[in-house]
Amino acid sequence: MPRILVVDDDPMVRDVLTRVLKVQGYAVEQVGGVDEALDLCYRDGEVDLVISDIHMPGRDGVALLAELRMRYPDTAVLMLTGDDDVGLAVECLKKGAMDYLAKPVQIQEVRARVEKAIEEQQQRIELRQLRDGYQAELEGRVLQLSQRNKEMFLAQVQMAVRMLEAKDVYTRGHSARVAEYAVLTGRQLGLGRAVLDDLRLGGDLHDIGKIGTRDAVLNKPGRLTDEEFTEMKRHVTDGEEMLGVLRADHPEVLHIVRWHHERIDGSGFPDGLIGAQIPLSARIVGVVDAFDAMTSTRAYRVEQSLEYAFGELERGKGRQFDADVVDAFVLAFPNRSAATLRH
Ligand SMILES: [Fe+2]
Repeated sequence: MPRILVVDDDPMVRDVLTRVLKVQGYAVEQVGGVDEALDLCYRDGEVDLVISDIHMPGRDGVALLAELRMRYPDTAVLMLTGDDDVGLAVECLKKGAMDYLAKPVQIQEVRARVEKAIEEQQQRIELRQLRDGYQAELEGRVLQLSQRNKEMFLAQVQMAVRMLEAKDVYTRGHSARVAEYAVLTGRQLGLGRAVLDDLRLGGDLHDIGKIGTRDAVLNKPGRLTDEEFTEMKRHVTDGEEMLGVLRADHPEVLHIVRWHHERIDGSGFPDGLIGAQIPLSARIVGVVDAFDAMTSTRAYRVEQSLEYAFGELERGKGRQFDADVVDAFVLAFPNRSAATLRH
């Protein structure tokens, strides 16, 4: 049953309106001023319709209208005006009143206007709910879509990594092993789930920029010339650029791609960062990348024994490698047997 609140300082007017509307089947309450009206809405929840006199001692009907619009947008407001107040009534319509009734009130007119106001208000509420629902659904779909886009993008770059490895027989499986070793090391260091996920992705994608490196440089047996070395070094910044869309959600992945060739003593590339300036995730991938490079056959040399590689990591502590990361990797390395991971 729709609830109506009648606000008028004249008890006669209130009583007449209350009786007429109750007969019509509404739940009607009445108060003599603005503050009591607001108290009642606050206490009992908003009503469907407020019928308010304009002129009242203290705060007037215009003030009540403003408060109601602000606090209870779903409440419809009808203004009661004297014959000489039409201008003011029109002002109230502009400020959000739904209609006005001229005093002295005519019973038939009250019934018709109130019914119409309540109906219209219901329609407005339904329309708004529909719109809100549609809005929420739309936002949900956009979110889903951007998630799908991201997944598709990742699937594509991962495919690019596989293609990159396919054209270089020596690096087959390298990215997957680096990802695996990086996660094992991160776990050993007690890193959280989100960082571990980024380590896996960053490990997998760390060399993606090599797609732009010429095969002759990539697969060159023997030493690179200065020029070739410069070209090879570019893979870290090229890779970072290629994965730019991940920056917002996975900045750590980009850190790994850009800085996995930095060295603790500042002699790495591309920025010559020193020590803790290099993000931990990039220090981790730096260690496990070097390890996997040593323990798999490359164009420029055959694979080294695990013992030799671990020895190199040990010797490189504090120069090329972060000592804590090396220790964690050595502890985390599965049974010192790379066989299962490498083939
Ligand atoms: Fe690299």
